Amino acid sequence: MTSQITIRRPDDWHVHLRDGAMLEAVAGYTARQFGRAIVMPNLTPPVVNVAAAAAYRDRILAALPQNADFTPLMTCYLTDGADPTEIEKGFAQGVFVACKLYPAHATTNSAHGVTDIRKLTDVLETMQRIGMPLLIHGEVTDRDIDIFDREAVFIDRILTPLIRDFPALKIVLEHITTAESAEFVADSGSQIAATITPQHLIINRNAIFDGGIRPHAYCLPVAKRERHRLAVRKAAVSGSPKFFLGTDSAPHGIDRKEAACGCAGIFNAPFALESYAQVFEEEGVLDRLEGFASEHGPKFYGLPLNEGTVTLKREDVIVPDVVGQGDIRVVPFHAGETLRWRFAD
Ligand code: DOR
Ligand code: ZN
Repeated sequence: MTSQITIRRPDDWHVHLRDGAMLEAVAGYTARQFGRAIVMPNLTPPVVNVAAAAAYRDRILAALPQNADFTPLMTCYLTDGADPTEIEKGFAQGVFVACKLYPAHATTNSAHGVTDIRKLTDVLETMQRIGMPLLIHGEVTDRDIDIFDREAVFIDRILTPLIRDFPALKIVLEHITTAESAEFVADSGSQIAATITPQHLIINRNAIFDGGIRPHAYCLPVAKRERHRLAVRKAAVSGSPKFFLGTDSAPHGIDRKEAACGCAGIFNAPFALESYAQVFEEEGVLDRLEGFASEHGPKFYGLPLNEGTVTLKREDVIVPDVVGQGDIRVVPFHAGETLRWRFAD
């Protein structure tokens, strides 16, 4: 039995690093495991221009532990009034790596998101022309659509026409949760890819109601039925370059999760790679972890592969019930469980 694996240093193609004290508390977890990360712009206020993204990048760099070898890749939060000139400028300057589309009110801090994708025609034309990826939270927000169907309906109503209208636009369908998404992405052209989180590989929707309501298993898009988990898992371990690692690590303090209206988000950064490794091992394809974690993402984004390596050792690791201290206490994914791989520093 393999006792350790060494892979090229991975990247996280979707993470929420937050700001202020939470940023200080969580940045080190992502920087420890990953060489780069695509940083989500859903702060309050959201990151909508180049100056705000550059300033946020500086705050992230300042929050990293000394000697961290980590590059934050910044994104622009699209609003109805998004300015194509500003976006092109930010991309040309290397500040913006991609734009993030949140349908308005789809999730945390998405109130300023896009109410109608037709308002983005000029922006999308610009992005298509300059080769800038569009990262999509793929859920419709209509209250009359069942929450478990919102991703599949998004594909039919929004994504399919979008791809038809912008056939060369690079698109990442973020944090896919359904068989429909896995199939759609697999069957699309090479300009369409998807990120996959650890939680959507590991839990199904039963986890949210396991003996009582489990706020720490709640994220958006919400986990779906078992058949969807299995389809997403199959996509992740398939070896297809269209699927790559994006944790969607989304920390919220305990009080904000364990509340009458608890926030969506699973904080998986502390044990992200261990989590993915367990999945690939269970599927008998540990040899494909490196492609998923370290190669497919940079190839899609047109960025160089990382130079260094990381090692995971086959050792039990007990995940703490809580990480952080004082005001910032967050329950990590897998809290209280024993994982079978240990990230070796
Ligand atoms: O669960 C989620 N949490 N999904 C998102 O799309 C946003 C994120 C957050 O920012 O907390
Ligand atoms: Zn996210």
